[in-house]
Amino acid sequence: MSGQDKVKQLRELKERAKLGGGKERIEVQHKKGKLTARERLDLLLDEGSFQEIDAFVTHRSTEFGLAEKKFMGDGVVTGSGTIDGRLIYVFSQDFTVFGGSLSEGHAGKICKVMDLAMKMGAPVIGLNDSGGARIQEGVISLGAYAEIFLRNTLASGVVPQISAIMGPCAGGAVYSPAITDFIFMVKNTSYMFVTGPNVVRAVTHEKVSFEDLGGAVTHSTASGVAHFAAENEVECLAKIRELISYIPQNNMEDPPQISPTDSPDRQDKVLDRIIPDSPTKPYDMKDVIGHLVDEGKFLEVHEDYAKNLVVGFARLDGRTVGILGNQPAALAGVLDIDSSLKGARFVRFCDCFNIPLLTFVDVPGFLPGTAQESGGIIKHGAKLLYAYCEATVPKVTVITRKAYGGAYDVLSSKHIRGDVNLAWPTAEIAVMGPEGAAEIIFKKEISASKSPRATLRRKVKEFRERFANPYIAAELGFIDDVLEPHQTRPTLIRAFRMLATKVDANPKKKHGNIPL
Ligand code: HXC
Repeated sequence: MSGQDKVKQLRELKERAKLGGGKERIEVQHKKGKLTARERLDLLLDEGSFQEIDAFVTHRSTEFGLAEKKFMGDGVVTGSGTIDGRLIYVFSQDFTVFGGSLSEGHAGKICKVMDLAMKMGAPVIGLNDSGGARIQEGVISLGAYAEIFLRNTLASGVVPQISAIMGPCAGGAVYSPAITDFIFMVKNTSYMFVTGPNVVRAVTHEKVSFEDLGGAVTHSTASGVAHFAAENEVECLAKIRELISYIPQNNMEDPPQISPTDSPDRQDKVLDRIIPDSPTKPYDMKDVIGHLVDEGKFLEVHEDYAKNLVVGFARLDGRTVGILGNQPAALAGVLDIDSSLKGARFVRFCDCFNIPLLTFVDVPGFLPGTAQESGGIIKHGAKLLYAYCEATVPKVTVITRKAYGGAYDVLSSKHIRGDVNLAWPTAEIAVMGPEGAAEIIFKKEISASKSPRATLRRKVKEFRERFANPYIAAELGFIDDVLEPHQTRPTLIRAFRMLATKVDANPKKKHGNIPL
């Protein structure tokens, strides 16, 4: 073969690799409203930045006639590229090859990019579209999955790991994403389940659709497994790029800083009128956040799950902050099992990756009731408490209205290493709300009085005047300052600037024992 023929052969091989499972299967993929593995990478990465590796890898299996059925790349496209010029490692599973199922060779390619990502200190993004373990490979495939799970776990907290679910992902194909930091799903075309509807019907006689069992809506609203649910793949990939813009490359770096386009001195007077006069009337904490952060841009995480706690990323003077805020417009902003889990996971992500925490507090307490108690609110609420206690990143807190009971302690209070604790004049910091408190501590007085209702009203008023304010906490130094709402943005920016050089640490240990 001449040199020219060899080049021709190479070109043909590379062209073949690009076709994955072949034109027909690509058409089927498109008909389902799905892009191919390579089309997805083109949208995810900066134009022309993708550098592929291992396009020549094929499986080594001979069982069930597989020796004659080989496809270049073996069902996954891997390599590196950039997002906004920053290095990213990627794998994109190709459903046109054995349904994107995972063989030993396929897994080896994923492990290789994960190992490179760890050495280089760069995020890993996995675009998952896979029927799980390659059935024909049996235990070899199970072992290969375990190799990935181990790497996911070792990389956790070292480099950010992001998973997009872009097809029917079953078995091992969901457990690897589950260990990663963020899961994106696409409505109507992506599914996650340990076992699919057919197995469910056989085992439990329950009839359930793909969508209800493991669709994007189920996982972004009910289970909380997915952090983002996009309308389509293009939106999903754009959202991943947006998320990457807020986070650092690894746990040794600070988040990227952009040149600010919003004045650090901007004072928004709307904030002075945002808290309703009635303490029981709701308002939208996202409005508060929107008025404070750079250009009102807020990337909300878990938007449709546990809406009583809002979490997400924004920038203040061009620097990333991780924001948590009770949402008075949903369940009065109470802390329950789901919101505790949501908050704890978010706090821990930010702490892993040096992202300062900003917490807005308006919380009536933990949700009482048998459902919550038997569901384990004690251990789940403790996760949020643990996460805040453990976090050593800069922590700034603003109490906008209620900070009652244990929830006051939990939400980045001074006592658990809150660095700057602020309150608006509308703040009410107490063991519980005035109504509940007066009923308990003036019980005898109220029942002995001629007009118990009027006495209760009077006692509630007395209690409110004495305790439902931020000044007792401020007298004790638990609150550093009480400020007018419109002063909040410049104050926060100064606080985070001051805290930029913060050094704090936890006692040396193998790892803590968060109440799982
Ligand atoms: C080998 C597979 C495969 C698999 C799909 N295919 N899943 N090949 N191993 N796991 C192949 C099909 O044979 C078919 O090949 C092609 O992929 C497309 O599959 P279809 O079934 O035609 O597609 P669709 O109707 O869209 O259904 C997709 C699916 C379904 C829902 C993913 O294929 C399915 O249920 N697959 C099995 C899922 C599963 O149970 N996996 C094992 C999980 S256990 P051709 O040649 O016709 O194109 C596991 C353990 C890991 O992962 C450990 C966890 C801790």
